[in-house]
Amino acid sequence: MNKARFITLEGIDGAGKSTQLPLIEAALKSRGIDYLMTREPGGTPLGEKLREILLHQDMQPETEALLMFASRSEHLSQVIRPALERGTWVISDRFTDASFAYQGGGRGLDYEKLEMLEEWVHGGFQPDLTLLFDVPVEMARQRLMKNASLDRFEHERGTFFEKVRKAYLDRAARFPERFCLIDSSLPLEKINVKLEEIISMLCL
Ligand code: TYD
Repeated sequence: MNKARFITLEGIDGAGKSTQLPLIEAALKSRGIDYLMTREPGGTPLGEKLREILLHQDMQPETEALLMFASRSEHLSQVIRPALERGTWVISDRFTDASFAYQGGGRGLDYEKLEMLEEWVHGGFQPDLTLLFDVPVEMARQRLMKNASLDRFEHERGTFFEKVRKAYLDRAARFPERFCLIDSSLPLEKINVKLEEIISMLCL
C-alpha cells in the first residue's frame, strides 16, 4: 500500500474549490483510498472557533496571521499528523500557502515573519501535492456575488484578490515539485480529466 499523502487545495475565493471537491473525493473513492477531508482555518473544535472569529471579526493583519497559524498548529497535531501516521490520506481545503497568499500577498505582511511561523509550526513538513485552482479575479468575483452572505475576506476588493492570486502563482513557480496549477475557468469535465490524471500519478 502507498504511503498516505497530504494534499492541499488552494485558490482565491470564488476559484471553484468547493465545486471541484466532489471530483477529488470521487477519484479517491474509486481507487479505494482511505482519506479524510478537512479545512483551514478550522479542522478541530478549537480551530472551528478560531475560524468563526477570523471570518467575521476585524483585526490587525498580524493577529490574523497568528490566529491562522494557531489554528494550523492544533490541526496538525490533532488531525493531520495522526491521520497520515495511521495511513489515512488527508485532503485539506487550504493550508500554509493561503497564509502566504492572503496575509502576505493580500495584506502585505512580511514574508520573513510568515516563514518564521511556518518553521515554528511545521518546519520541514509540507504537502505532497498542492492543487492551485486558478481563475481571473473578475470571474471569481462573479461567482462569489451569487452567494447570499459573504465573509470578511470575500468582502475584499478586486485589487486585494489580484495580489492574493499573484502570491499564489509566485508560490507555484517557486515550489513546482509539489504545486499543480489547475485552470479553473475550464469546463468541469476537463478539470475532472486532469484531476483523475493527477490522482493516478500519486497512486503509482
Ligand atoms: P474558504 O476556505 O474560502 O471557505 P469558504 O469556501 O467556506 O468561504 O474561507 C476561508 C478564508 O480564510 C478564505 O477567504 C481565505 C482565508 N485564509 C487566510 O486568509 N489565510 C489562511 O492561512 C487560511 C487557511 C485561510
